[in-house]
Amino acid sequence: MNDFNFYSPTEFVFGRGRECETGRYVKKYGGSRVLIHFGGGSAVKSGLLDKVKKSLEEEGVAYFELGGVKPNPRDTLVYEGIELCRREGIDFILAVGGGSVIDSAKGIAAGVVYEGDFWDFYCGKKVVKALPVGVVVTISAAGSEGSGDSVITKEEGMLKRATGSDALRPRFSVLDPELTMTLPAYQTACGATDIMAHVFERYFTNTKEVEITDRLCEAVLMTMLRETPRVIADPKNYDARANIMWAGMVAHNNIVGVGREQDWNSHGLEHELSGLYDCAHGAGLAVIMPAWMEFVCKHDVMRFCQMATRVFGVDMDFTDPEKTAREGIRRFRTFLHSIGMPINFAELGAKEEDIPVLVEKLGVDDGRTGGFVHLSSEDAAEIYRIAVK
Ligand code: NZQ
Ligand code: ZN
Repeated sequence: MNDFNFYSPTEFVFGRGRECETGRYVKKYGGSRVLIHFGGGSAVKSGLLDKVKKSLEEEGVAYFELGGVKPNPRDTLVYEGIELCRREGIDFILAVGGGSVIDSAKGIAAGVVYEGDFWDFYCGKKVVKALPVGVVVTISAAGSEGSGDSVITKEEGMLKRATGSDALRPRFSVLDPELTMTLPAYQTACGATDIMAHVFERYFTNTKEVEITDRLCEAVLMTMLRETPRVIADPKNYDARANIMWAGMVAHNNIVGVGREQDWNSHGLEHELSGLYDCAHGAGLAVIMPAWMEFVCKHDVMRFCQMATRVFGVDMDFTDPEKTAREGIRRFRTFLHSIGMPINFAELGAKEEDIPVLVEKLGVDDGRTGGFVHLSSEDAAEIYRIAVK
């Protein structure tokens, strides 16, 4: 196991109706003039936004509103938010929504206190200071409620890039599983896929002897295999929603990733798909992740056998370990299809002829590549080609 620091300062406020306590937590973490940031309307329609506003009013917290965050959030709205915060002297950003809203809020939080262009942070500059961010989560997926990460798309050229810093970790996150009951099945499944992908990016490692995090990863994956079909069949199943919601946080605040080298190539490959086609991140991952697995399987067949036997219940064939490994990948893909995810380019709406563009934007030969298997541009192209089928 490698050395590590684990810092996860976010206060998680979990359970039914807890969004009504939002004002109290904003105040606790120093907010007096708040920007409420939200998406395209789901939080308005469900009445959540009104509840949040009421709880701020009860605590005497002044607020301003900026809605309209799109999935795969854009830099243009972040600039607008930065300007609004400076103009109104805002001291706290409250994200009410999913990963896109939270990431946009983090971009604003970093940008307000920075003299340069906030986009610098998405081109390698480290965020050291940001306004405090609080969150009311409405979809279990990106795990941004517990992470220091933010992913923004530059509208010009649709360039999707990430930044990460402990300064961006939310001060608090409200997780009420009931808020996710209004999600369409497709979005629920996209979120589930992302949660599993966050675990796999950490599970496939060259670091030996990390049994504790291996087992934690497997617990999250097996929970997702059990609970996802349950919420798809019964969207109002509170306990299944609750298990998925906590799994989404655990999958990405890095508790399942410490002590080991991680990969993240599937996310890199996917961000180019959602950048180019504006598809849901989870849907892009459903197409890319099994293709990546097929491509890298031979690098460590026994690790894939561990996944196949422990997570997907495949019987180990000691005479042909690769067969066992590949059966695990096949079962993962079958699971994704069963929950309504696309599993190839055609189902996602991606085009084989765009592969050179995807590879060029990815720029893996510039050194941005993962830790399990280093990929060249040609390797990336091959993974996209596997995903075509
Ligand atoms: O905009 P509204 O109207 O709210 O609709 C959203 C959106 O259309 C809808 N939705 C959310 N909660 C709902 C709901 N609809 C009905 N009822 C609810 N309760 O769902 C759609 C998707 O929302 P979005 O926020 O885009 O989903 P997600 O949480 O999957 O976030 C995706 C973004 O996060 C990034 C992705 O790349 C993508 O841009 N990621 C961020 C990470 C991070 N910051 O740590 C890590 C991830 O790997 C990921 O890259
Ligand atoms: Zn993700």
